[in-house]
Amino acid sequence: MQIEVAKKAGHCFGVKTAIQKAFETARAAQAPVYTLGPIIHNPQVVKVLEKEGVKAVKNLSDVSEGVIIIRSHGVPPRVIDEARERGLTVVDATCPFVKRAQTLAFKLVEEGYDLVLLGDAAHPEVEGILGTVGNVATVISAAEQTLVLPRRRRYGVIAQTTQSLDNLQQVASALLGRTHELKVFNTICNATTALQIETRLLAERVDLMLVVGGRNSANTTRLVEISRAAGVPTQHIEIADEIEPAWLERVKRIGVTAGTSTPDWIIQEIVQQLQQIGK
Ligand code: F3S
Repeated sequence: MQIEVAKKAGHCFGVKTAIQKAFETARAAQAPVYTLGPIIHNPQVVKVLEKEGVKAVKNLSDVSEGVIIIRSHGVPPRVIDEARERGLTVVDATCPFVKRAQTLAFKLVEEGYDLVLLGDAAHPEVEGILGTVGNVATVISAAEQTLVLPRRRRYGVIAQTTQSLDNLQQVASALLGRTHELKVFNTICNATTALQIETRLLAERVDLMLVVGGRNSANTTRLVEISRAAGVPTQHIEIADEIEPAWLERVKRIGVTAGTSTPDWIIQEIVQQLQQIGK
């Protein structure tokens, strides 16, 4: 049985930086340290951080003192203001690519464009971008949804950083028929795009794909969709123990890819488990 791991699988620059900042903050802090929401969508990493004294909270109101870390997904600016007003020290670990999306969204609205935000409305990154523009954007997840949008003089478009380029192209193309002027910023992160391309190519040459990452991770879910669209049996797992030997029957080549919130040690455990079952 041949196992091939996608070269770009696992932690991206933004996630690595956020986790590193969380560990450094925990080591240096003289006060309690919190993250607003789990630092990344990976329960295993969140547990390791908890052992270091970094606790995830849902709301600012759950914290009365100490340090609050803003995760890589970012937050609306009012949340940072509120944290400071409450006397908390803010460590902002928002990924620079997410910051860029927030800034460009703000610029489009300021210039008078009707903003369309391509993404998952329930995702914290999208909530952060929406908050940055005072909630005036329309969030859609697919080109068909542009059909119900009113005709406007000027539409501006940005995407959640984990969207696929195909989806953004389809939305831009569909919107052209509904406006005189269209301004599109490609805010999809390079790390996401490269990983998606590599996952598709890997899926095309194996018999089974394992996609590793939190079940609540948007970019991992997208990798699962891409792999399935390539027509290969695909399993979404978080840890090595979830691998079922029955999946590997008559399988000669296995591809392993992982969302950007998956640490290297989890990927290594999965490869070891596969090798063990293969024996
Ligand atoms: Fe940032 Fe891209 Fe990672 S947006 S958090 S580098 S997936």
